Amino acid sequence: MDRQKVRKAVLPVAGWGTRFLPATKAMPKEMFPIIDKPVIQFIVEELLEAGIENAIFVTGRHKRPIEHHFDINTDLERHLEEAGKNEVLKNIREISHMVNPIYVRQKRQLGLGHAVLTAEPAVGQEPFIVSLGDIILEKGSDNLSKMLDIYNRYGRSVIALFEVPEEEVNKYGIVDVEETEEGVLKVKELVEKPSPDEAPSNLAIVGRYIFTPGIFEKLRKTKPGKGGEIQLTDAMKLLLEEEEIYAYQIEGKVYDTGNPLDYLKTVFEFALKREDIGAELREFIANLLSTQNQLIDRP
Ligand code: G1P
Repeated sequence: MDRQKVRKAVLPVAGWGTRFLPATKAMPKEMFPIIDKPVIQFIVEELLEAGIENAIFVTGRHKRPIEHHFDINTDLERHLEEAGKNEVLKNIREISHMVNPIYVRQKRQLGLGHAVLTAEPAVGQEPFIVSLGDIILEKGSDNLSKMLDIYNRYGRSVIALFEVPEEEVNKYGIVDVEETEEGVLKVKELVEKPSPDEAPSNLAIVGRYIFTPGIFEKLRKTKPGKGGEIQLTDAMKLLLEEEEIYAYQIEGKVYDTGNPLDYLKTVFEFALKREDIGAELREFIANLLSTQNQLIDRP
């Protein structure tokens, strides 16, 4: 069947980043580096791999560095050219042409659902992706393309899921599903951040969604929920009363960058894999740990 093609992605990036204050007082958490690449660039590269070039960033007042990152910086380019730093120059130029960006201001931070609704004028009446910036999915795992395949087959919203340990269900939207065909799940129930005994499963929403435009009408009707915020999960519950919602259990690793400890774990894992610094870092960590252990062992 001919479906309206998914061409746009919404990236809600207006949050305060309270878990990282004071670092996020003037600096967007989406610009935190995983060594030398900001988190938001990973999210954009994942979209490009799936063929999506139109990115609608829902931003706030201190998020300007994100705009600068995806813009052309002629002064920097000239400097790199004069310095003969051709490799870096090529990389910097590629980033400036990565996406067709649209920036929409979310004037008040009323929740993730409200952020998505703020993008409505830029999305229009067409299906769209929502990618959250906290989570990086392993490169090459092709999850978004597989979600787009499901959308193209069923013409309905599709969400990405991953399994979490029982004690972590209260950090995520949790979903109950049934399998409709191999690799395709159908959503039966959704709960935003339940306690372990309220959770219908341990399948969590991982921050990648494809929505039919019908979600906007539901977002307008969504009352403040968990934490007093307008929750995207609650709008999906309303959508589920009218349309099926499908789900896809992602493949590959999930890297959380949304809190200091998981962010650090992500940085270490990526750094250890790097050819230029991985070996030295491994040695440094081994030495550091053995010195610490000696200190602990000392009577
Ligand atoms: C949001 C969503 C939640 C989802 C999570 C994924 O929560 O509300 O349903 O599971 O992202 O990262 P947040 O992490 O913004 O509190």
